Formats: sequence, structure tokens, C-alpha cells
Amino acid sequence: MCGIFGIVSEEEKQLGSMLVEGGKRLSYRGYDSVGAATISGETIDLRKDIGKVEEVDDKLNLSELTGKRGIIQLRWATFGAPAQVNAQPFMDCKKEIVGAENGNVVNTIQLQELLEKEGHTIESTNDGEVCVHVVAKYMRQGNDMLKSIQLAYKEFKGDYALIFLNKTENKLYAIKKGSGLVVAVTEKESYCSSDVPSILPLTNKIIHMEDGDIAVIEPGKAEFYRVEDGSKVERETVEHTESMESAQKGGYEHFMLKEIHEQPNAARDLIDLLNDSKFVEPFVEEIKNARELYFVGCGTSHHACILGSYYFNKIAKRRAIPSLPQQFTEEYGNTLTPEDVIVFVSQSGETKDVLDALKFAKEKGCKVLGMMNVLGSTLMNIADVYLPIACGYEISVPATKTFLNQAIMFLYLAMREGGKDTAGLSELPDLIQKTIDETDEQCKELAGHIKGWKELYYLGYGITHPIAKEGALKLKEITYMHCEGIFSSEFKHGPLSAVEKDYPVAFITAPDNVDMMISHINEVACRHGKVLLIAEDNDVLQKYAESYVKIPKTSQTIFPILATVSAQLVSYYASKNLDLNPDFPRNLSKTLTVD
Ligand code: AGP
Repeated sequence: MCGIFGIVSEEEKQLGSMLVEGGKRLSYRGYDSVGAATISGETIDLRKDIGKVEEVDDKLNLSELTGKRGIIQLRWATFGAPAQVNAQPFMDCKKEIVGAENGNVVNTIQLQELLEKEGHTIESTNDGEVCVHVVAKYMRQGNDMLKSIQLAYKEFKGDYALIFLNKTENKLYAIKKGSGLVVAVTEKESYCSSDVPSILPLTNKIIHMEDGDIAVIEPGKAEFYRVEDGSKVERETVEHTESMESAQKGGYEHFMLKEIHEQPNAARDLIDLLNDSKFVEPFVEEIKNARELYFVGCGTSHHACILGSYYFNKIAKRRAIPSLPQQFTEEYGNTLTPEDVIVFVSQSGETKDVLDALKFAKEKGCKVLGMMNVLGSTLMNIADVYLPIACGYEISVPATKTFLNQAIMFLYLAMREGGKDTAGLSELPDLIQKTIDETDEQCKELAGHIKGWKELYYLGYGITHPIAKEGALKLKEITYMHCEGIFSSEFKHGPLSAVEKDYPVAFITAPDNVDMMISHINEVACRHGKVLLIAEDNDVLQKYAESYVKIPKTSQTIFPILATVSAQLVSYYASKNLDLNPDFPRNLSKTLTVD
């Protein structure tokens, strides 16, 4: 969901190239349109268009922009279609202020009507433009920037982060409410961005803004004020030790492939972290004491939650209810008690659906636990107790390594809850590596079988049901085909009618469920559907398979993790077969900070 990046410098320089580089590092957040503005003297140079940062730079030469301060915005469209007119940043009517937004101001239409009545000309249907005009309105009444932003805040409903520049002051003004925003100060330059990694090549000393903070940022200094009363507050500088190198492709064609290949190491790092009781014990303790236990997340994180509930049932004999965030509030809201524990799972830690449900659970007095990848994220800050999944940066929009570590984390927690010895988990990283090495060619082969098809079913039974769902999500996300992952026994209750000659159905079966799955495979095979398989080597299964990905021999509980790796590779190759870029699927964004 949109990325913003601002620089203020002591010297007049070619800020455009720095903004473009910062924008590239944020490109996972939105690529519907890109715009950059710099201020040189008192002139604002604003250039923007639809497309990715490289495309807009080629077309409009963003890199050549000069000035002492500037911003770039990468948009993932919500308010207004992806179009030049809706691209950010925006200027006010008098071209005195320029600003850019990440997030959603939900009362945009009402504000737009009011502004137009007051004589403002609004050109777009984008909420970012309205924000700039509201601040300009208060400036015209004689307020300074800080006061104008404070007054504007009272009019904005929603969650957002905004950066504003005006043509007379060499400063960036930023406000954060609900969306991520960080600041960094160096001697001659200062920066403000939607995330930490985009700043790391410039400095690793980062200040995390809090909701309701307004930052006034100058070269060499940044001051923070509370929006409610204008009082000054101190914000700590945190030194980040991670490198930006992990956010680069390292010789792989795509981030997705790199991140799939990083899974053995990511698993190893997580297993090491799990031996650090400082993080783990409080989490385990809360789960143990829960009356009712819920696992809440969206998309891929939701699938990890479903797998987690299977692990808790099978290994710990304990009920855990997996739920989507809104489903959680709508379906379970009235039955929650302060003895209930809700584990919120999110790669980014910024997904609005998740944060809304988290606030709801807090109001109900429940214990809220966070499991996230991005350190310093809102989820980490709000949760009573948190556990990092320790994957490093995941740039590609399709989540891969973060799912695997969420799954491993749930497996570990279930083992702890069930009083089982977790030492055996140390073999997992090598098994993941073996799966990549042994199945890569088979995954390519299977992907070849679905080329040309516009639809596919993934069927899983029991513990592989969430893997079927995840395999399907990954495939639809990066191939744009229609794909569903369902419980295999449900197939005969409706979807089976789609099967005709060569219709592809992919079965993922764990070792203990092979006999049951053979019944379900027969239903497809006898109708001449194309049977694709992800399973351990098995003579009977072999007879049905037109394409067979053979997972290394393991156990019923480890199998789903290894099968996921192969399903990821299948999706990757299917996307490549269509000449699509799996890292940045159309219409999607890595971090969804909107309803
Ligand atoms: C996964 O490939 C997707 N990009 C998406 O479903 C994602 O998992 C979902 O948006 C949740 O994101 P989060 O884990 O950052 O909360």
C-alpha cells in the first residue's frame, strides 16, 4: 500500500536520483503510478505518471530533479483509478505546498465537497490531494505549517502517513497515524520513509515515529510534536544492524526465487532464535493459560494460522481457532473474554485488517500476542507479547519464506504445548534444502502441465488442506489464473462438475492420508481429469500421476512444510511460463494498510 520517501538536504543537489533509488527500494509497496517533486529556490518541480518507478523515471527523467528537499510517492490505487491525474504527490491551488500520502483518508469525498465550496480546485479523486488542500487552507488563515497540520488532522478520518514540503522552509513535515513512517537524521541530510530498509543504505540510525506524532525534519535534526496539543516529545534513535544486501536479488532472476532459496537459512535462524527463551517463554506461557485460543491473520498468514490449528490439535490436543480478522470480530466478537488469547500473525505487522481486529480484541480485554516478520512494526509495538519469525526482508509480494517460518513457529509452539521434545526440528533446514534440490525440476515439469489452463484446483486432506489453499493463493496471485484450494473430500460436493478431459487437479497428500486421497484421486481420474501430485514417492500414486513432485521422506507433521516449498516453486515457474513478473503481481501490494 503506497510508499513515500522524502529527503531534506543542506545543499542544493540532484535529489532526483536519490529519490528514485529510495523509490526503487519501496517499489514492493505500489507500482500503479509514481511521482516525485523537489523544491529549488521557491520553485516546485513535480513530475508524475502511471507505471513503475523505472518506467516513470525513463519517461519523465525524475532522476534529474534538483533541489534542497524532495519527495517521491509510489502508489497502490485505492482512492481513484491508477491514472496520471490521481498520481501523487499533489500541490495546493497556489503551488506553495506539495505533499504525498500512504494510507487512506476515508472521508475524502466529504472533504472534497467542502473544499470545493471554499473555492479550492480539486483535480483528482485521490485522498492525497485533499490532504494537501486542507493543510493549505489552514496556512492561508495565517497558521504556520505545524499548526496547520495539527488542525488538518482533526479533519482527516482514517489511517495514513503524510509528508509535506512548502516552498519557503527547508524542512520536511510528516505526520503518522496508523501507517508506518520512520525518520533518519545525518549531519547534512535527513530522511523520512515508509519503511526502514529504504533508508538503510543512507544510515542505519532510525527514529520510529508513533501514531499522532508530527515530525519537523531538517538537515541534521528532527523534532517531534504531539498532534493533539502540539507538545514536544523525544523519540529515541534505534541502530539497525540488518543490511540492505538482504533486500537485493543476489544473482537470482527474481526476489521470489531468491526468497524461496533462502528458506533453509531462514528456518535455521528461526530455530536458533527459538532457543532464546527471552522471546519464547512469555509467549508459550500465555498460550498455556488461555481459556480459548485464536490464530488471526490474512492471506498467506491466515493459511499459516490454519496449519497452526492442525498442529495444535494433532500434537498438543488443544483447540485453536484460525480466523480471518474481520471474521474474528464478526463471528466470535461477542463471546470473547479477558481469559482468551489471540495470536495475530502478519509478515508486515502493518496489515490494517489485522490491526483493526487487534484493537478490537484489546478493547475486549483479551491478551494479544503478535507473530511478525518486520521488527518495529505496529503489530510488534501494540502486542502484549511478540515473537519475531526472523526471516529478514521479504521483498517479493508473494509471501514464501515468511509462511514457512510462521509454520515452523506454530509447529514449535504446538510441540511445546504438547510437552514434546523440539530438538528434532534442527533437521528441518536440511530437509527444506533437500526439497528444493530434489524437486526443482519436477516443479518446472508440473508447471508445464498447467500452462494454457485458466483454472486449477489444489486438493489437500487434513493437514495439507491449508497447503492446498496456500498453493492456490500463490498460483492465482502470480499467474492471474482462477485457482482454488479445497479440502479434498469436499470436491465431490460441487467442484467435481468442472472436471473434463485433461482438466488439471493437483493433489497434495501427507503420508498418513494416502489411502483416503486415492479415493479422491479416483473421482478425478475416472473422469479423465489430469492428476498432478505433490506427495512422497508411492507406487500406487505413481500410477495416477501425469506429473509427480516427490517430496523427501519425512513425517506427517513436517510434510506440509516441505510440500509448501514445492508448491511455491510450481507457482514461480508457472508465472515465468507466462512471462509475468512474480515479484510484483498486478493490483497487489506487499503491505495492505487499507480496509
Ligand atoms: C501472500 O502471498 C500475499 N501477498 C498476501 O496474501 C499476504 O499474505 C496478506 O496480505 C497478509 O499480509 P501480512 O502477512 O503482511 O499481514
